[in-house]
Amino acid sequence: MAFGELKQRQGVMWGSAPFEEIARQISVMHDDLVARLDPQPGQRWLDLGTGTGEVAFRAARAGAQVSASDLSPELVDTAKRQAAEQGLEIDFAVVDAEKTPYGDASFEVVSSSVGVIFAPDHRAIAGELARVTQPGGRIGLTAWRPNVGVGEMFVAMKPFQPPPPEGAGSPFQWGDESYVEGLLGDAFELEFHEGDSPQTGESGEQIWDDYVSWYGPSRTLHDSLEPERRAELNRTMAEFFERFRGEDGIHQSRPYIVILGRRR
Ligand SMILES: C[S@@+](CC[C@H](N)C(=O)[O-])C[C@H]1O[C@@H](n2cnc3c(N)ncnc32)[C@H](O)[C@@H]1O
Repeated sequence: MAFGELKQRQGVMWGSAPFEEIARQISVMHDDLVARLDPQPGQRWLDLGTGTGEVAFRAARAGAQVSASDLSPELVDTAKRQAAEQGLEIDFAVVDAEKTPYGDASFEVVSSSVGVIFAPDHRAIAGELARVTQPGGRIGLTAWRPNVGVGEMFVAMKPFQPPPPEGAGSPFQWGDESYVEGLLGDAFELEFHEGDSPQTGESGEQIWDDYVSWYGPSRTLHDSLEPERRAELNRTMAEFFERFRGEDGIHQSRPYIVILGRRR
């Protein structure tokens, strides 16, 4: 499958569930990323893969002049509505981060919180980050670690999913510093930080229900299965989250890295 068709499907997938509740559950990561980038009044800031806009809102509240975009028209609509409710002026657009309409060197800061990592063509993302960031400007990305936390949840979902299209990068490759050095190291001077945005909840069933209700990839997978297989997925995922039960309910560590870069 060509990536064009894949991304058309990914846009539909991300827009198939409203995402706001999941965004609320990763607010620790949004706060961490924005604090590290330290937005300034008037700064030209771009947030790619903005989803429902949480990073863009934080930067705009600090006075930055923010553009924000996402592959999913539905999520951009939600972000626009929430920005209006908060009285924030942000230039929103539906944009594929692999090929953006923004001018060369047009931003002082480019951010993406677990956003561009989901695009299949990692080299194209690296190229766009380098192109739109001005010399001396900065990027700040977050990425889930592979095989733990959200990475482990995707491993648990994998037997229920069709195989990924040939040549498509995995989002979890961005959670490995040496891989990111290979992708971005020529254009950016990089540094890495670690963080944790834990998953909490009353039960495995409640957490998985939230994912099916609010998270496009889980909703799409769930809805694509025949009833018997769907019931099996629901059981498997509820049991998966139950493995993280402690004294106060479920507490699953979800480690991520923050990738900070200065454009050479
Ligand atoms: C896990 S969500 C993160 C949303 C938001 N950055 C946040 O932290 O709340 C991933 C987002 O990346 C977007 N995305 C995936 N592939 C993309 C692409 N090729 N171009 C732009 N956005 C993309 C999805 O539509 C989705 O909104």
